[in-house]
Amino acid sequence: MAAFFRGAVRGYAARVPSSSAPSSSAHDSFPLLRQQDGELVRLLDAESRRQQSTLTLIASENHCSPAVRQAASSALTDKYAEGYPGARYYGGCEIADQVEELARSRAKQIFGAEHANVQPHSGTSANLEVLEALAGSRGRILGMALKDGGHLSHGHKVSATGKLFEALQYGIDAESGLLDYEEIRRLAKEHRPSVLIGGASSYPRTIDWRELAAIAREVGALLLADIAHPAGLVAGGVFASPIGHADVVTMTTHKTLRGPRGGLILCKAEHAKKIDGGVFPGGQGGPLMHTIASKAVAFGEVLAPTWKSYAQAVLDNARHLAARLIERGLAVVTGGTDSHMVVVDLKREALSGQDVEERCRAANLAVNKNMVPGDPRPPRVTSGVRVGTAAATTRGLGKGDFDRIAEVLVAIVKGVDPASQRPTIERLCAEHPLP
Ligand SMILES: Cc1ncc(COP(=O)(O)O)c(C=O)c1O
Repeated sequence: MAAFFRGAVRGYAARVPSSSAPSSSAHDSFPLLRQQDGELVRLLDAESRRQQSTLTLIASENHCSPAVRQAASSALTDKYAEGYPGARYYGGCEIADQVEELARSRAKQIFGAEHANVQPHSGTSANLEVLEALAGSRGRILGMALKDGGHLSHGHKVSATGKLFEALQYGIDAESGLLDYEEIRRLAKEHRPSVLIGGASSYPRTIDWRELAAIAREVGALLLADIAHPAGLVAGGVFASPIGHADVVTMTTHKTLRGPRGGLILCKAEHAKKIDGGVFPGGQGGPLMHTIASKAVAFGEVLAPTWKSYAQAVLDNARHLAARLIERGLAVVTGGTDSHMVVVDLKREALSGQDVEERCRAANLAVNKNMVPGDPRPPRVTSGVRVGTAAATTRGLGKGDFDRIAEVLVAIVKGVDPASQRPTIERLCAEHPLP
């Protein structure tokens, strides 16, 4: 039973399908689609079955609630609403205005923020829009390098953020795998960026937002904190919040925050006008109002009393998993985690990150290969895998289950036939149905 939806979504528990074949169970998610488009519904059923029988340990994924999904497929998908509540460029927006206002006020309440923009289509859009608003064309930005755990949209050369801005990158200490704040300070003083970006895609440890804000202040930069990964943990009070330190905060709504696919920007009131203009008309046209409705539902779930215990369980499971992996002889980047993510270092193992990712797939475990500090292998191969606990915790898995997962991961890394591990994972999946 997916324990972490109880209480947040009334009546939900009674509707959880017990079968792994949604098409044939009493609960059919696609009754109209089934009549109209058999070709597509076969694919959707196959994806539902894949998710049911796979344990998702991809750190950037989660399983949102049926309520979040329902809102995402509402009548609002038909509504154009360019602009903002009370100032739209289309008629008929009186309901859309209330929906967006609901999402905005819930987002502000969750994080204690002065202003929220719920329109970004994705985390990348949010970052691009904020950078355009704060740094301006050809402005200088300083962010974490992709190979060290940063995100493409923090100034990588293949991203628009690396082409439209003068982008400089900082890394991590190759020995400890930790951020080196003195090195960031040195780079900031040398290059004097307009925007310093903090936050990462693959960094398991806490981030010292106060220190990053101090560095930004010392060089006259603004601080953008990207909490795409730990947003749900920040909301649950188990990961350091950048609110009060950063000028602007971006995040995705679909990772630990467990909402629909999308972006969210929070900022101090003094930046609100600039940020809103950066999103529309700067970076986007009409907002995805159905997604904004769905974000509002997800934010409502985060505001429910059960959220704190979900966030704590995600963290406890990740710490437990890291400890079990280390006990069983694997190396873990930084020796543990402060978040939902554990990065396994395979540098001294025979198998690469790519090998382990593929073998995990054969055991019905979804993980992704990842560069690790001082990685001698190229990015398509890598010497690491990144593992996250948010999705499995949503399914209700606890520490005992993560003991089994650690055993399976270690066996796979040590070269055991992954097919022999599949029954263990299938059993865990059957015991813990999808939301
Ligand atoms: C730190 C960080 N920022 C931004 C993004 C981009 O999000 P999206 O895939 O929604 O564009 C990600 C996605 O993984 C991320 O990890």
